[in-house]
Amino acid sequence: MRVAVTGANGMLGGEAVAQLSGRHEVLALGLGPGRPPEGTYRWLEADLGDGRSVEAALREFGAQAVLHAGAVTDVDGCEREPDAAWRVNAGGTQQVARACRTLGARLVTVSTDYVFDGADGPYGEEDVPNPRGVYARSKLAGEWVALSVAPDCAVARVAVVYSGRPGARATFPTQIVEKLSRGEPVKAFGDQFTSTTLAASGAAMCLELLLETGYLGVLHVSDETVMDRVDFARRVARRFRLEGEIVPVKTADVKLLAPRPLRGGLRVEKAAGMLRNKPLLIEAALDRFHEEWGRRPPA
Ligand SMILES: NC(=O)c1ccc[n+]([C@@H]2O[C@H](COP(=O)([O-])OP(=O)(O)OC[C@H]3O[C@@H](n4cnc5c(N)ncnc54)[C@H](OP(=O)(O)O)[C@@H]3O)[C@@H](O)[C@H]2O)c1
Repeated sequence: MRVAVTGANGMLGGEAVAQLSGRHEVLALGLGPGRPPEGTYRWLEADLGDGRSVEAALREFGAQAVLHAGAVTDVDGCEREPDAAWRVNAGGTQQVARACRTLGARLVTVSTDYVFDGADGPYGEEDVPNPRGVYARSKLAGEWVALSVAPDCAVARVAVVYSGRPGARATFPTQIVEKLSRGEPVKAFGDQFTSTTLAASGAAMCLELLLETGYLGVLHVSDETVMDRVDFARRVARRFRLEGEIVPVKTADVKLLAPRPLRGGLRVEKAAGMLRNKPLLIEAALDRFHEEWGRRPPA
C-alpha cells in the first residue's frame, strides 16, 4: 500500500515511518533538517504552511492512506506567531484532507488533549472541546477541517508525546533523565494532571487505526495512566534509578504564554476495547522508554 506520513521528522511521525518501513511503500514528508530513523522510505521536503506543497506531493505519490502528524507543536510559540500556527495546523490539515478527498485515500489526523479546557478531565471522545490558546484552537480547527473535507477520516488525539529514540527531540521526560543524571534538580508542575504518550505506542495505535480499521470520527490514543507531572517525574526517576530533587511548582507561579489545562488527560477505554495495540500503563511505557534510551550513543 502507498502510505504517506507528514511530520516525519517529528517524534510520532518518525516512529510511524520506522514502523511502516519495509512493510509498505512509504512517503515521509517533513520540513526541517532532521530525518526519520533509518529505513526504506522516500523522503520529500514539503511545507504544510504554504497552501499547496503537501497536497501536490500526496497527489503525485498517489497516497492510499495518510497519517497526518505534522504540526506546529510549541504551544507558547503559537501565541507568539499565531499566523504560522493557523497556516500549518488548520491550513496544512486542509491541504492534506483535500488531497485525501481527491485520491479517495483514508486519513488519520493527529490531534491533542489541549482541545479541552482542563476544568474536569480526563475526557472521553464524547466530551465537548473548549480550546484555550492559539495552539489548541488551531488544532481543533484542524480536526473539523479534516472531518468535513476527507470522507474517510479519523482524528487520533494524543497527549504529552515523548520518545527516547536516538535523534528524537528533547521533552519533559528526556530532560528529567538528563538533569537528574547531572545532579541538577527538576521542576515539575504538581497541579497539571495529564495523560502521556510514548511516541512508539501512539504511532502503533494511529497506524492500526489508519490501515486496519474503517473507524470514522474521534478516537483517544494516548497511553492509559493519568497523573500529575510531579508523579510522572518521580516515576521516570525511579525507572532510571536516578536519585535527586524533584521540585513541585504551581502553574500560576510560572509565566507561560499559553494557558495549560490543569485537570486534563484522555480516557482511552474505547481504543483499549477496539485496537490490538493497547494504550500502555505508565510502567510499560517507561520500560520501553528506558529501552529506547539505552540505544542512544553515549553523550
Ligand atoms: N508533542 C506533544 O506533546 C503533543 C501533545 C499532543 C498532541 N500532539 C500532536 O501530535 C502530533 C505529532 O507531534 P509530535 O509530538 O511528533 O511533535 P513534533 O516532534 O514537534 O513533530 C511535529 C512535526 O511537524 C513538522 N512541521 C512543523 N511545521 C511544519 C511545516 N510548516 N511543514 C511541514 N512540517 C512541519 C515538524 O517538522 P520539523 O521537525 O522539520 O520542523 C515536526 O517534525 C501533532 O499533531 C501534535 O499536534 C503532540
